[in-house]
Amino acid sequence: MKQRTCVLIKPDGIEKKVIGQILTRFEDQGFQLLGMKMVPVNQEKLENFYSEHKGKTFYDHFLNFMLSGPIVATVWEGEDIILRSRQIIGATNSQEAEIGSLRNLYGTDNRKNLVHGSDSSISAEREIKIMFKESELCLNNSLDLNEPRQTKVP
Ligand code: TYD
Ligand code: MG
Repeated sequence: MKQRTCVLIKPDGIEKKVIGQILTRFEDQGFQLLGMKMVPVNQEKLENFYSEHKGKTFYDHFLNFMLSGPIVATVWEGEDIILRSRQIIGATNSQEAEIGSLRNLYGTDNRKNLVHGSDSSISAEREIKIMFKESELCLNNSLDLNEPRQTKVP
């Protein structure tokens, strides 16, 4: 089933200079990028984005971490992308994330865990609306973006 997901590269991903490595993993799956921007984060947006976690013990520390630097917000579309992207990302606690997953490779712990991926299509639609205006998404272009790579990697 074709689905959309909202993937955020968190401040630690930008600090570690692995934006390219992260995007490559999604491109390698043939997923289609519908929107992308690097933004200084806004507390109100983040509180809305993570509202399901409000009041949990980790919430304040986690929000402070998310506010510590810019993030890269992206929207992707692909077959079963919710499940497949969460497999690419790995378990919440980077220390327990599957070998080769992004959090295993570049995450630190269960707070600094590099990447966010939506956990359902309903969450994805909600998160995309928080992060993007409709006009910032490229939904109707005529290119077949699911074609394999055209260029050879040197
Ligand atoms: P959650 O939705 O449980 O994880 P995931 O990102 O894998 O969907 O939690 C949201 C974020 O909250 C998580 O990415 C990092 C932060 N967090 C903590 O800082 N400490 C914790 O103990 C947990 C469970 C999450
Ligand atoms: Mg989650």
